[in-house]
Amino acid sequence: MSERWERGADELGRRLYAVLNCLVAPRPIAWVSTVDAAGAVNLAPHSYFTVASADPPVVQFTSIGRKDSLRNVEATGEFVVHVVPWRLRDVVNLTSIDAPPDVDELAWVGLTPQPSRTVRPPRVAESPAAIECRLLEVRSFGESPASGHVVFGQVLHVAVDAAAMADDGLPDLRVLDSATRADRSHWAPLGELQPIERPTWEREGRPGPAL
Ligand SMILES: Cc1cc2nc3c(=O)[nH]c(=O)nc-3n(C[C@H](O)[C@H](O)[C@H](O)COP(=O)(O)O)c2cc1C
Repeated sequence: MSERWERGADELGRRLYAVLNCLVAPRPIAWVSTVDAAGAVNLAPHSYFTVASADPPVVQFTSIGRKDSLRNVEATGEFVVHVVPWRLRDVVNLTSIDAPPDVDELAWVGLTPQPSRTVRPPRVAESPAAIECRLLEVRSFGESPASGHVVFGQVLHVAVDAAAMADDGLPDLRVLDSATRADRSHWAPLGELQPIERPTWEREGRPGPAL
């Protein structure tokens, strides 16, 4: 056993955020489009993102501090999550710019808005997949600039480029080529995919795990 670097949360203080970002990685990236009450568009990446529930279908992303995406979702109750393909990493990163609230990042970087089916925020045509959501609730963990505000949205509709659908009727991750957020300022492409079957007790059960 190698020696371990051990620190309590109190000891690390604000640095714990950076440590967790390295340990809870890689993360998928939600490219979130929203509109404000007047219909002005906003687009920003969020890697604190995952599926929260299968039934009902719920996804979640976290705004660290109060940002435009969060304010828009709270005002309108709607958002669209887009898949980020590796080829779009630079333009996605540009949309993370700290632009004033009235700047439409989607237009600013020259992307193409497309109407969504069920919500007002537009889809980004250049992304191969969009998940249209209606706000369920925001769970806030405080009001400091680094506090998390977790946005839970019920999935109303999904749209995937036909070319990214596999023969089994599911999206093909190799075609989507989703980018991930890694440690520090790193991003990472998908890498190799390998099938690993889930064990069943009936097939594999024995006294003690076969490690
Ligand atoms: C790959 C990537 C992932 C990010 N993930 C998050 C995140 O999970 N939560 C967050 O608050 N900001 C995240 N950011 C920073 C926001 O995108 C950035 O603060 C942006 O300006 C927020 O936009 P908004 O004010 O229009 O909502 C991320 C940035 C990048 C490049």
